[in-house]
Amino acid sequence: MVKPSLDLSDKMMRQVAENSPKGLRERITQTVEKPGKRLRSILLFLLSQSNGETKDLERMARAAASVEMLHLASLVHDDVIDRSEFRRGVSSLHHDFGNKIAVLAGDYMLAQSLMFVVNEEDRRIPQSLAKAASALVAGEILEVDLAGNINISFEDYIRVIEGKTASLLVSCAQSGAILAGYDNEIVEACGDLGLNFGIAFQIIDDILDYGIGAEALGKSNFGDLQNGLITLPLLLYFQKNPKEEMEMLVKNATEPSAATLIVEKLKNSNCFEEAKTIACLHLSKATEILEKLPKSHINTLLKDFFEAMTERRN
Ligand code: FPP
Ligand code: MG
Repeated sequence: MVKPSLDLSDKMMRQVAENSPKGLRERITQTVEKPGKRLRSILLFLLSQSNGETKDLERMARAAASVEMLHLASLVHDDVIDRSEFRRGVSSLHHDFGNKIAVLAGDYMLAQSLMFVVNEEDRRIPQSLAKAASALVAGEILEVDLAGNINISFEDYIRVIEGKTASLLVSCAQSGAILAGYDNEIVEACGDLGLNFGIAFQIIDDILDYGIGAEALGKSNFGDLQNGLITLPLLLYFQKNPKEEMEMLVKNATEPSAATLIVEKLKNSNCFEEAKTIACLHLSKATEILEKLPKSHINTLLKDFFEAMTERRN
């Protein structure tokens, strides 16, 4: 269902990489050629076809290329911030070329992402993307400010992941609904669907970072711990256990023995299961919203897509 539009948006992104100025071409091509799971595009494409009518492939592909390019830009910058050496199984841009190049390449990709939708006839699409880009930065900065704070509240954690991850999925879902031609009420409901899917996606990502259920991640384990990030499993641990010993372990998390002990304690305290249950609650909310859309093959595909999320290993 999504292959023709995915192929076209991939082609558009490769063209951007090939046409970028000397000095960026090779570096951006390296990033674009590892396209990742493209969940954001898949959500957008499925929703845009969910009312059964044939759609304008070019518009769909441009909207998705914009989203994926924005996502790639944010990952290039994120790897600078997190000092991650790997992304999608290959060495990260800043690891190969240094921080200056990585920051500039990310800036260029952000600009190109907006170029994909500047001429989009429905102005709500570029508006929602620009809003998501701002929310991404706000979420990321809140995460930096909260790093190392073992008293982080559940609400703050959700605020971080809503900003850094779910906001872009809100935009994808809304753009898909707009391209499908739904009225404002359904567009808003799809935004909510994207929000819940995005929250669940990031919770699962945070569990995988501990190596729990992870396979072929293409990035190092314990990145969050090593950056002092208190994600949901650890937050749940602090809510129900004495803090001192775990706090010491978290401070020493760059040592493999400390990281292993942290994982053991989180397992014994049921924190990974509880975090997964919270992710599933959000996936159920996303699935409930599908009831508002026409019953179709695509509706079933979207349901399966959400369910598969709980079993994902990378
Ligand atoms: C990955 O999270 C990071 C994000 C989803 C967003 C990062 C956003 C920024 C760096 C702001 C810059 C934004 C723009 C528009 C250029 P993670 O570190 O938890 O996941 P990971 O393990 O895959 O690195
Ligand atoms: Mg990161």
